[in-house]
Amino acid sequence: MESTLVILKPSTIQRALVGQVIDRFQKKGLIIAGMKMMQLSEAILREHYAHLVDRPFFPGLLESMRATPVIVMCIKGRDAVEVVRAMTGATNSRKALPGTIRGDFSMSGQENIVHASDSLESADVEIRRFFTADEIFDYNPALMRSMYAPDEL
Ligand code: PPS
Repeated sequence: MESTLVILKPSTIQRALVGQVIDRFQKKGLIIAGMKMMQLSEAILREHYAHLVDRPFFPGLLESMRATPVIVMCIKGRDAVEVVRAMTGATNSRKALPGTIRGDFSMSGQENIVHASDSLESADVEIRRFFTADEIFDYNPALMRSMYAPDEL
């Protein structure tokens, strides 16, 4: 099973979409292995978005990500990184397909509802950036056998 990091951005909190976004992940059959609300510091955002610090939109991105607390989630499942990215849709929400989270809930590249890790390597680093080891829970829901074939577990 893979784990990936999702951040419910301030746009999700401000627009009261938290429940609907989490519901999509749960209905898909993904497992919430960790979840908490936190106010992101400029320091952690500079680390998280290190590849973007020289982009002209970076100051706006910083301000946007600090506008309210965010909800960080560690989401687990078979091929979770790819599955969650597919559910999330394109970064620019105006180009995100209908049926994806951004495609259904947003019109913006910046206020695009969620962040999701883009590779297994990034997911490992990002989960450790936002969670301590004791905040990640290793459990399997009782319905696991209805969600996967034995050879998929
Ligand atoms: S890249 O280089 O633009 O493809 O960067 P990417 O790794 O996809 O991440 C872009 C993140 O910056 C946020 N952001 C913007 N992106 C593009 N254009 C503008 N104007 C912009 N403003 C903010 C965007 O929401 C991406 O955040 P995450 O959290 O990765 O979704």
